[in-house]
Amino acid sequence: MKLLVVGGGGREHAIIRSLKKNPEIEHIYALPGNGGIAKDAECINISATDIDKIAEFAALNNVDYAVVAPDDPLVLGCVDALEAKGIKCFGPRANAAIIEGSKVFSKNLMKKYGIPTAKYEVFDNLDAALDYLETAPIPTVIKADGLALGKGVIIAETREDAKKAARDMIEGGIFGASGSRVVVEEFLTGPEVSVLAFTDGKTVKPMVSSMDHKRIGDNDEGLNTGGMGTVAPNPYYTDEVAKRCMDEIFMPTINAMNAEGRTFKGCLYFGLMITADGPKVIEYNCRFGDPETQVVLPLLESDLYTIMRATTDGTLDNTEVKFSDKYACCVILASNGYPVSYKKGFEITFTPEAEEHTYVAGAKLDGEKLVTSGGRVTGTTAIADSLKTAIEEAYRITDGVKFEGAYRRSDIGKRALAALN
Ligand code: AMP
Ligand code: GLY
Repeated sequence: MKLLVVGGGGREHAIIRSLKKNPEIEHIYALPGNGGIAKDAECINISATDIDKIAEFAALNNVDYAVVAPDDPLVLGCVDALEAKGIKCFGPRANAAIIEGSKVFSKNLMKKYGIPTAKYEVFDNLDAALDYLETAPIPTVIKADGLALGKGVIIAETREDAKKAARDMIEGGIFGASGSRVVVEEFLTGPEVSVLAFTDGKTVKPMVSSMDHKRIGDNDEGLNTGGMGTVAPNPYYTDEVAKRCMDEIFMPTINAMNAEGRTFKGCLYFGLMITADGPKVIEYNCRFGDPETQVVLPLLESDLYTIMRATTDGTLDNTEVKFSDKYACCVILASNGYPVSYKKGFEITFTPEAEEHTYVAGAKLDGEKLVTSGGRVTGTTAIADSLKTAIEEAYRITDGVKFEGAYRRSDIGKRALAALN
């Protein structure tokens, strides 16, 4: 069987490694992949957002199944384009990917169907937004409607900051068209939990829960990033919380999407906050999380390809989705200066142990050498019987990944460990 995976980050590397455990899969193309993925798949230089070329390539090369991993191609209709060529896919069609593509859509969906989330107002007119912010409770949260590389959320601690954020987004265009409409949202507090769930549009099978670390600095200080590390499972996701999420959030979301004629198939990501009033949705993503995938898939004991096919074929109900009861920790190495500005082109080296445990994100081949080419460069995952050991092992093994200016947080998993104890 020949598979195609769209995307080229650490998440896609983890998906590809997991898929390769199935002996029926003979070949995997990664579009575009990256210099590290090249060891595990054939990388083809087609951008993840060039959906016509992707569909053409898949048809020409008789691809049996395609996995579309990143948000932008999903929102642009990559699954629709592949299906039009007769290729079966993992991932939602564009009409369902809108659950991530438009925050206004997802907020209105939750309101209409009574799914717990922060209270909000929508504005596309600056004066109306400024008026509202004159008396809105502070802190408040301002979100660009569309995709903004995970950066379209501003938590404003003062009224002035809130107004500035609204001005920057609606008038200043800092997020382009994505920000011309904004959601102003109630500020919630509580621990955050990421839950990725497989769904075929009827059944939902949640994966093991995880915890991301989004800020660049230790103790959650500094700027937001794409994610500096993850642990799984998340200790705040107790059995009781899980049951409430299934009854109040997961199934209602699947049913709501069906009722809207937008059946969602693939991986639905629930970004949750466990508030004093119970679990609430902070965001939906229409895809696997990054770097959540790098701790979740290594704990998957069932066959990933079989599950993916079941989401496409509508047979998830009788497909096993089993996770190990161990713990996983992933530590990201980033280029010095990320998420603002950084240099590229530094050679990356691995010990054999580190290479085996590492998913490569921002790196490309320069001849035979692997060199840095992005902000987040690698993610190294360790699995162990206890969270404490998983964290220690992830850091120990990460020492075997080297490049000039490598930066990492030193406290990945610390909060989870404290919660567990
Ligand atoms: P998002 O890009 O929607 O995941 O938002 C980025 C981060 O902003 C989240 O992980 C939260 O930490 C924070 N955030 C988003 N919405 C809220 C909210 N309503 N209240 C408090 N924090 C929020
Ligand atoms: N780790 C957050 C995301 O994938 O959006």
